[in-house]
Amino acid sequence: MSSNIYPIHSQTLTRAEREKLLGQRGVMIWMTGLSGSGKSTIAIGVERELASRGILSYILDGDNIRSGINSNLGFSVADRTENIRRIAEVGKLFVETGLVTLACFVSPTREIRAMARSIVGEADFLEVYVSTPLAECERRDVKGLYARARKGEVKDFTGISSPFEPPENPALSLDTSRLRLEESVAKVVEMVMARARTRP
Ligand code: ADX
Repeated sequence: MSSNIYPIHSQTLTRAEREKLLGQRGVMIWMTGLSGSGKSTIAIGVERELASRGILSYILDGDNIRSGINSNLGFSVADRTENIRRIAEVGKLFVETGLVTLACFVSPTREIRAMARSIVGEADFLEVYVSTPLAECERRDVKGLYARARKGEVKDFTGISSPFEPPENPALSLDTSRLRLEESVAKVVEMVMARARTRP
C-alpha cells in the first residue's frame, strides 16, 4: 500500500523516540500453553515485578480480548486463527509504543504461533511455553471446563478434543507443576530485563 494514503503517519513519533521517552524497549512475550497451565498467573507476577523495576508492561489475555474486541469469536480453527491474528496486530502496536507486552493465549498450533511471530516481527517476539502437563491442568480445572469437555459439553477443547502442539524451540519453558510461581516469574523477568533497557 502506498505510504502517502496516510501522510500524517510520517509525522508521528518514531518507535525509538517513544522508547527513549519511556526509558525502556518494547518486546512481545508470547505465552502459550494449555488452559489452566498458569500463563496469566505468571504474567501478573511478571507485570508486578517489572513495575517495581520501573518497567511498564501490559497483559493481553482472554479477560480483556475475548470479552471485548474478539467477543464474536469461538474456538474453531478459523476463529482461533482470527483471534490470534487480531491479538498479534494489536500487540504489535503495544510493542511499537515501547511496552513489554505479555500475551497469554493457548495459541495451540505451530502455524498459529508462526503467524503471530510474523505479524509482530521476529526481532520483538519471545515465545514462552508454559508446559504444565495436561493431567495437572485438568486436576486444577480452575474454570471447570475440563470436566465439561470430558462429558462432551464443550467441543473442540484444547488438550481433550482439539490438539495442542508444543513449541519446538521456545525461548523459555516453564512447568508450573515443578516450579514455584516466584521461580517462573523470576525466569521471565530475567529474560525481559536482559533486553528491556538495551537499545536496538
Ligand atoms: S486460542 O486457542 O484462541 O488461543 P484463547 O487463549 O483465546 O484460545 O482462549 C482459551 C480460553 O478459553 C481457555 O483458557 C478456556 O478458559 C476458554 N475456552 C472455552 N472453550 C474452549 C475451547 N474449546 N478450547 C480451549 N479453550 C476454551
